[in-house]
This record gives sequence, structure tokens and C-alpha cells, in this order.
Amino acid sequence: MSSFLEIERLNKVYASERKPIHALQDIDLHIEEGEFVCIVGPSGCGKSTLMRCMAGLEPITSGRLALHGRPIDAPPDDMGVVFQRDLLLEWRNILDNVLVAAEFHDRDRRELEPRARELLGLFGLSAYLDRFPRELSGGMRQRVSICRAMLLDPQLLLMDEPFGALDPFTRDELNAELQRTWLETRKTVVFITHSITEAVFLGSRVVMMARGPGRIADVVPIELERPRGLEVRETAAFAAYVARIRDTFREIGIYKG
Ligand SMILES: Nc1ncnc2c1ncn2[C@@H]1O[C@H](COP(=O)(O)OP(=O)(O)OP(=O)(O)O)[C@@H](O)[C@H]1O
Ligand SMILES: [Mg+2]
Repeated sequence: MSSFLEIERLNKVYASERKPIHALQDIDLHIEEGEFVCIVGPSGCGKSTLMRCMAGLEPITSGRLALHGRPIDAPPDDMGVVFQRDLLLEWRNILDNVLVAAEFHDRDRRELEPRARELLGLFGLSAYLDRFPRELSGGMRQRVSICRAMLLDPQLLLMDEPFGALDPFTRDELNAELQRTWLETRKTVVFITHSITEAVFLGSRVVMMARGPGRIADVVPIELERPRGLEVRETAAFAAYVARIRDTFREIGIYKG
């Protein structure tokens, strides 16, 4: 049976003037519809490369990458992407920034406006529709980016360290909001992070990556009940997952401590 998103023996080599860079080596990963998959790994292990390949923004060197059984060779319509740095347009207000997604996909702006308002409401931004990005905090800006990625109701949401630049309070808040939204919509999410705690809190599975060349070191299913409150992070079960992941990273030489 085929999976929603299939990655098989995927290799990515960047040509370079000096030595080619083998960014991804033999990546095998099947993702089912409705999963929340977190990818965690050290800087330079190829997380963003993998995400750009999944988003159809980067050609693969060899292997197979398919969504709904169809090879991904251009950005699929059915996909929303959130990057680490929000790509908000400074000259457009918040509502118009979310509606950019309609223009990109040649959809009727007016028809999608109610949905844009609804999403912004869900993320607590109803009072900011006519503000400009510079008037918002970092956390609010990232919320707008998430709304934009969700506007067309994509089946797959790809997120590359969306909360990496935020303070811990805002990050906690957004983790909780993202989980709530996912429980309501059950869209498939691929979420990249440097934080083991964030990965265990959000993920149904945690994919661990190692570098040199970038590869999958292990895949850990997270069987904590949902909804997970932030306090789940203080439980023994949670700590055991974090310890297991940290131990594996230590064994493969990523942690020295
Ligand atoms: N466009 C590019 N051209 C050449 N090499 C690249 C390019 N993008 C990434 N690389 C190389 O590929 C490897 C993986 O980079 P990538 O950005 O995917 O890592 P990452 O896991 O996302 O790191 P970080 O956690 O720091 O964001 C690195 O060695 C990087 O130098
Ligand atoms: Mg990256």
C-alpha cells in the first residue's frame, strides 16, 4: 500500500566549485496522512534541504519522492510552507499578507477572505488585521505566517524551525496552539526543530537526523496521550523519550556531554 508522502533512497548532492556536498544520503521515510512528524538534528544535517525537496523547491539527485503517489517536481498545490524567517511583506497589512497565498495560487481573494479572518481569529490576531508586520512581535509574525500557509487548507504543512527565533514563553504558547489546530484539522505536518523537547511535545513520531552526510539516525514513535498540556514535559514518560533521543545522539557522537 502506498503512503501519503513517500521518500525512498533519496540522495541530494549539491554541486560546488570545490568538493560536492552530499547533503542527504539514502533517506527512507514514509509519512501517513494525519501524522505529525518532527525532524530533529544538529545544524547542517540537511533538515532544510529535505524540507525544500519535499516542498518541490529543490531537485533531488536520486531516489524517489512522491505525494499521493505522484513525484514531487514542482511546489504542489496541496502544501503550505512556513520558514524559520517569516516572509511577510512589510508593505501589506496582516490580512493582505495572509491573502497573498490566494494570489500565488490564482484563487479569488474575496472568496478566501472569510477564511483568512477566521484563521487569524484562531491565532488571536483578530484585532490586528489592518496592522503592518513591523507593528507585530516576532511571535505574532510567525502566527501570521502559519495562517498564510493554512489559508488554502493544504493537506500537508511543512514547517522549518518556525519557532526557533522566539522567546521560550511565546514558543510554549505557539506549541500549544499548533497542537490544538492540528487536533482540530488533522492535517499532515512535517515540523523541523533543533529542540528535542519541542519534537517530543508535538510529534507523533520523531525522526532523528545525523550529519556528514545527512541521514536518518532513528525514528521514535511518541505515544503520549493528546491533547498534551505543557505540563506533560515534567512527567517521567516524557523525560524517558527525551533521554532516549539524547542518548542516541550521544552514541553517534553528536553530544559530547
Ligand atoms: N544551496 C546550497 N548549496 C550548496 N550547499 C548547500 C546549500 N544548502 C545547504 N547546503 C549544504 O548542505 C548541508 C545541509 O544544509 P541544511 O541547510 O539542509 O542543514 P540544516 O540541517 O537545515 O541546518 P540548520 O539546522 O543550521 O538549519 C550543509 O553542509 C550546507 O552547507
Ligand atoms: Mg535549516
